Amino acid sequence: MLEKIKALQQEIATVKASTLEDVDALRIKYISKKGKVSQLFAEFKSVPPELKKEVGKAINDLKLLAQERINQLRETFESGLEEGAGTDLTRPGESMKLGARHPLAIVRNEIIDIFGRIGFTVAEGPEIEDDWHNFSALNFPPEHPARDMQDTFFIQKDPDVLLRTHTSGVQIRVMERTQPPIRAIFPGRVFRNEAISARSHCIFHQIEGLYVDENVSFADLKQTLLYFAKELFGEDTKIRLRPSYFPFTEPSAEMDVSCSICGGKGCNVCKYTGWLEILGCGMVDPNVLENCHIDSRKYTGFAFGMGIERITMLRYGIKDIRHFFENDVRFLRQFESA
Ligand code: DAH
Repeated sequence: MLEKIKALQQEIATVKASTLEDVDALRIKYISKKGKVSQLFAEFKSVPPELKKEVGKAINDLKLLAQERINQLRETFESGLEEGAGTDLTRPGESMKLGARHPLAIVRNEIIDIFGRIGFTVAEGPEIEDDWHNFSALNFPPEHPARDMQDTFFIQKDPDVLLRTHTSGVQIRVMERTQPPIRAIFPGRVFRNEAISARSHCIFHQIEGLYVDENVSFADLKQTLLYFAKELFGEDTKIRLRPSYFPFTEPSAEMDVSCSICGGKGCNVCKYTGWLEILGCGMVDPNVLENCHIDSRKYTGFAFGMGIERITMLRYGIKDIRHFFENDVRFLRQFESA
């Protein structure tokens, strides 16, 4: 009897199946009611009492082995993998679905690329800033109302620690550690304590630009920004500069581009003006240069700053800024091939 069990054990350990039906046939052959293993239980009755313990254990082990082996074979078919020789090693792998770039990343990279072509490098700074880099060094005097223009999230008061309200602080950090010539842009996330709506959010992204060298003039600023606008919005794009005010630039301006949607004729996106405001800019205030130990009699510079959300919304016709932060894949998937 023990020998019979052993033989069956070997047989079962090496059984093979090439289809799910084969597996079922094996189940019937070995462990169904009339199967070979079940039959052993019937024969068990005639085993002499002194051998019952040993034989009983052997039969039970065999039953377990048979069940395990059959389950194992079944699983290989059910999971779609064929065992051993059945595997087709030449079958092409299943391609993995690639994620999509976020529209803000697409536009940011494009802007970095455009300025990269005229020699601007990229630098970054911290999102948690001190008063010096976010305000004081940028020529915002204490108590100056301009500080109220930017609703700041404070983390700590006296000394002030805050979430940066703009990327202009990175200008300071770069000028503090580098002497001119400096030609760089600074992309990053900024924070303002504003009510969230379709048009504004408490988190958004900016790209700041800075060029400091000898003899940098307002004409250089205009030419650089015209080049940028044409690269980003198309060759026919026009720009116009309107006087404005920022503490860190003098003179300061705001730049509009001709509406890329109606070509300047007037539509609801440009509110029938033909122009879209896209950035602030100006000549770096000499006080700012001096705050960073750059000789303002020797060097001049220009700076500019723009919101990436606004440009991305114009580019793709996105009507609500909140889409950028909600991570709804139905929105994000639309940029897969961009
Ligand atoms: N920091 C300004 C803002 O957040 C944008 C800006 C305007 C940056 C003029 C500049 C600049 O560098 O020259 O509204």
